Amino acid sequence: RAGWPGLIEAYRDRVPVPDGARVVTLQEGNTPLVPAHHLSELTGCEVHLKVEGANPTGSFKDRGMTVAITHALAEGSKAVICASTGNTSASAAAYASRAGLTSAVLVPQGKIAMGKLAQAVVHGAKILQVQGNFDDCLELARKTAAEHPVTLVNSVNPVRLEGQKTAAFEICDVLGAAPDVHCLPVGNAGNITAYWKGYDEYARDGVISATPAMFGFQAAGAAPLVHGQPVSNPETIATAIRVGSPASWHGAVAAKDASGGLFSAVSDEQILAAYRLLASREGVFVEPASASSVAGLLATVEDGRMPPGSRVVCTVTGHGLKDPDTALSGMVEVEPLPVDPGAVATALELT
Ligand code: F0G
Repeated sequence: RAGWPGLIEAYRDRVPVPDGARVVTLQEGNTPLVPAHHLSELTGCEVHLKVEGANPTGSFKDRGMTVAITHALAEGSKAVICASTGNTSASAAAYASRAGLTSAVLVPQGKIAMGKLAQAVVHGAKILQVQGNFDDCLELARKTAAEHPVTLVNSVNPVRLEGQKTAAFEICDVLGAAPDVHCLPVGNAGNITAYWKGYDEYARDGVISATPAMFGFQAAGAAPLVHGQPVSNPETIATAIRVGSPASWHGAVAAKDASGGLFSAVSDEQILAAYRLLASREGVFVEPASASSVAGLLATVEDGRMPPGSRVVCTVTGHGLKDPDTALSGMVEVEPLPVDPGAVATALELT
């Protein structure tokens, strides 16, 4: 909507910030809920995409970060720290720079997409590449924040989830009700916890009369919640959700159980197929991890776990430009053309 002030102002009564706090915002939130015509036709469901790549730094993390950085600033913090597979660090770096705070980010060496690293660089974060995975980085960030004057802005900081729950509000506000099923990619499990908190809050206050079943999808090589135990060496092409020991484990399980939902694994092949389908048929370019919600939709329609004809929202969590390498890996090399209209017509097979 016009004049959108950012989600803290938009949901002031539901997203608490300290009295008199300066709100640190990039006017995040209010992202498009796009009807997915091709997916609806393919599945017999009414499918909508919550396009979180439309947030200021290109992922849903901005919803949590506006709240976390607003709190950090109000509490007199001078520096923030986070572990990240890339999007949290990009968002923390941007909001910290806006607030005049220093940011430090711990990322798994060689396992973060190029666009995300570029964001942390350009916003001036102190970037520490760690010889370990995300879980190792999170442990290091927690220990550092416990012993030194820096504020942890991972989703273990509960105010992050207060911001992220607003995506559920927006969906209900647009649809006039909750969907029947909500499909999400799951990594560290903060987001599924936050969405459920949002739906539950709206239901308790009578804004909606029913809540959705929460369907959480993990990459097959990084699916601790599906297996019911941590994975020590998580692997997937979807680096954003390459997480073996989710911090919000209990929140995710509670969301699944209370909503009558499920956890399921999708293979890298299924993720990439959904990634290509979103780009080529829906016109929506997302990063690989984001496509796992749609891969999961397709898989559960196929195996019958998706109730036929459901109204489904799939959150696509991050923008495709975050990960240009994956996008370009499908590029076919062609010879450059001379400056000649005939050559263009021939190349396009128009003659
Ligand atoms: N999709 C994207 C694009 C993400 O970056 C993440 C998490 C998720 C989904 C999963 O969300 O962790 O709340 O279950 N990225 C974190 C990060 C781990 O560091 O940026 P979750």
